[in-house]
This record gives sequence, structure tokens and C-alpha cells, in this order.
Amino acid sequence: MITIDPDDLQTSGRYRLLTGIVVPRPIAWVTSQLTPGAPVNLAPFSCFTFVCYEPMLVAFVVGRKLGSRKDTATNIAESGEFVLHIADEPLAASLHSSAVEHPSSVSEADHLGLSTITSDVVAVPRLAAAPIALECRLDQTIEFGDIRSEMIVGRVLRIHIRDGLLSNGKIETADLNPLARIGGPRYTTMGDVISLPPITASMAVADS
Ligand SMILES: Cc1cc2nc3c(=O)[nH]c(=O)nc-3n(C[C@H](O)[C@H](O)[C@H](O)COP(=O)(O)O)c2cc1C
Repeated sequence: MITIDPDDLQTSGRYRLLTGIVVPRPIAWVTSQLTPGAPVNLAPFSCFTFVCYEPMLVAFVVGRKLGSRKDTATNIAESGEFVLHIADEPLAASLHSSAVEHPSSVSEADHLGLSTITSDVVAVPRLAAAPIALECRLDQTIEFGDIRSEMIVGRVLRIHIRDGLLSNGKIETADLNPLARIGGPRYTTMGDVISLPPITASMAVADS
């Protein structure tokens, strides 16, 4: 067993270890715009989860580049809206390429030839090819640590799910075939599914 004190690591070493420990990570593939009609920014964020379901709140963390906000964080702070997509395996190459840092005047969606369609309730368009899209309104932003990374929490206003992926109110995960990040340029998809008996009260050890 190797035991590490995080204080003994460099910043890059902490990043490398954490992103290798918290795996596989789902990926929030986010469209945002500074103002309605502005270039549609698109970028992936794998520091991502949901934080509440009543109401539905999703959250992803945006770091800074050389201390400045990334376009996604700037756009959402200004517009208060975004669309969060889940990508499937066929979209892997596009998702990966959308992480390239272009000037804010460049739409990564246009650049990659990804069609967008009008959203129902937010001004930011959504990706036509994504199997799931969540139209979100900014709920709150929480800043963390010396590097001042920002957790962007969004309230889900509309959920778009590709036909065939919803059954009895649940997502058919194998059919969704979501892309997940391991680290650096490495990704994974659904492996074998392990099914165990549902947790029931009868499994609890009686109080002595
Ligand atoms: C799969 C993947 C996941 C990423 N996850 C994050 C993340 O969680 N937080 C972050 O700040 N950057 C993350 N990045 C890097 C951003 O996508 C990258 O900095 C991007 O250029 C930001 O775009 P923007 O400036 O248009 O917002 C990730 C990159 C990839 C390829």
C-alpha cells in the first residue's frame, strides 16, 4: 500500500491523482452563449454530477485558465442559462475536439459541424445529435479553493431524451451507451452490468 500526504504533491500531481481516483466520470457537454444569437460555445466537463432531484439540480465544475474564467463560466454568469448534454459513444471524437480552446468568437458547435436546434425555454440552442439534453437555468455558483474553480449548479427546466431510451420512466442505460472520462484523452463506455438483489429493510441487522 502506498500512502500519500496531498501536501507533499505539486498542484499537477494532485490533479493527476484525483482525476485518476474519481473514475469513470460522466461528462457534462455544455452549450452556452454570452447573449442570444452569439456564437454557441460547446465544451465538455467531467467534474459533473446531479446534486438534488427536488427540484432537479445538476452541477459541474469549471476550472480557470491562467486565473481567468473559461468561456463557459463567463457565458453562464452573464446569461444565466445553458444546455447540458450527455454524449454517447459515436459522439466521442466530437466531444473530445470540443475541448480545444478557441477564441470566444468561434462556435465549437459550428466548427465541428454539429447541428444545433432551438431549445424550448432557454435561449441557448441544444445539440441535435445528443441523446439527452437538459435545458438549465443557473441556480447558483460556488467557488472552491485557491484555484477558485467554480461549481455551476443549474436547475433543469426541460429534459429531452432520444426516442427509445425511456422505458417506464427510466433511462435504458445500455441503449444510451454514455461516454465517460477516465483521464487525459482516455474515455470509456458501459462495461458489464453487475446486478445484485435490491436493498430491503429485511437485510438490516436487528438492534441489540
Ligand atoms: C472529457 C473532458 C472533460 C473535461 N472536464 C473539465 C472539467 O470538469 N472542468 C474544467 O474546467 N475543464 C474540463 N475540461 C477542459 C475544458 O473542456 C476546456 O478547458 C475547454 O476549452 C473549455 O472551454 P470554454 O473555454 O469554451 O469554456 C475537460 C476536457 C475534456 C476533454
